Amino acid sequence: MGNEFVEHTSHSAEYFGDTRDSWWNPDYVALLARRWRLDHVREVLDVGCGVGHWGRVLGGVLPREARITGVDRDPFWVEKAAERAAARGESERFRYQVGLAERLPFERDSFDLVTCQTVMIHAADPGAMLADMIRVTRPGGLVAVAEPNNVAGALLDTAMVHAPVDEVLTLVRMQLLCERGKAALGEGHNSLGELVPALFAERGLTDIQVYLNDKANVVLPPYTSAEQRATVEELSDFARREFWIWSRADTRRYFLAGGGEEHAFESSWAAAMAASRRTAEAIAKGTYSSAGGTVGYIVSGRKSPAALNDGT
Ligand SMILES: C[S@@+](CC[C@H](N)C(=O)[O-])C[C@H]1O[C@@H](n2cnc3c(N)ncnc32)[C@H](O)[C@@H]1O
Repeated sequence: MGNEFVEHTSHSAEYFGDTRDSWWNPDYVALLARRWRLDHVREVLDVGCGVGHWGRVLGGVLPREARITGVDRDPFWVEKAAERAAARGESERFRYQVGLAERLPFERDSFDLVTCQTVMIHAADPGAMLADMIRVTRPGGLVAVAEPNNVAGALLDTAMVHAPVDEVLTLVRMQLLCERGKAALGEGHNSLGELVPALFAERGLTDIQVYLNDKANVVLPPYTSAEQRATVEELSDFARREFWIWSRADTRRYFLAGGGEEHAFESSWAAAMAASRRTAEAIAKGTYSSAGGTVGYIVSGRKSPAALNDGT
């Protein structure tokens, strides 16, 4: 249980714990597979694969013959993803290699499905990333991405219902400023999901479909399921280590880059830490509950022979 990578310095390490295994309802993923006609798919590219969570979710609904290639810029994640596939005895079906999302190390028109989950939100230039994803998709193939609107999701929390309005506004303001600052620093916009359909249209993809992930990670005392235990353990661990959405140092950096004032950072951070401690205390007392919603868009489009692909 937990997160074997906690406090590891690689990108997103804080979010590669057990909670990531329960981001999707399996019957909903099966529905996506029918909508996307994945039964015809044989070659799949999972861009920014991390340790392979998203590829594995899709692997459950793809034909047995389908081969999933994961690519990530971080060699550490590539090594760990390959280790996990080997431990499951699936090294033939799941392959991993190092590569940049903006310069994918593959020939054009190579894959039936090119996909990513929570990677465009970290891209300096999501349009450039999408262009290269389209380049390696075969004509008629599918580009499908799962990207959130995290700032909308921030309001889906029990604390936001009970906490004083000014405190809620402080936390939402801090998150908005940080998201803008992160984007301004070239580290991606955490609510980019909202803009992805327009990017798909600009890049010439056709048959654009937009859905929402229907998974809510409900938390109810006494937190008996493995899934709920993983969630409350992660929340308690974040509170213990004073980790918000980002570390204090990153939050400060993003806050200032987004136009936040130095003096306001200290009080905003204190409010975030106080809210986080209250959650952890309620968990310890067995009084914390949450409906557990998120706003996760799933956007898909087809590459037509006429699709723009960065001029290459
Ligand atoms: C939030 S994680 C998502 C991992 C995986 N898609 C999942 O959902 O479990 C973002 C991943 O994208 C990778 N990444 C970020 N920017 C990238 C880029 N420009 N090229 C390739 N990988 C990138 C990071 O190393 C990290 O593993």
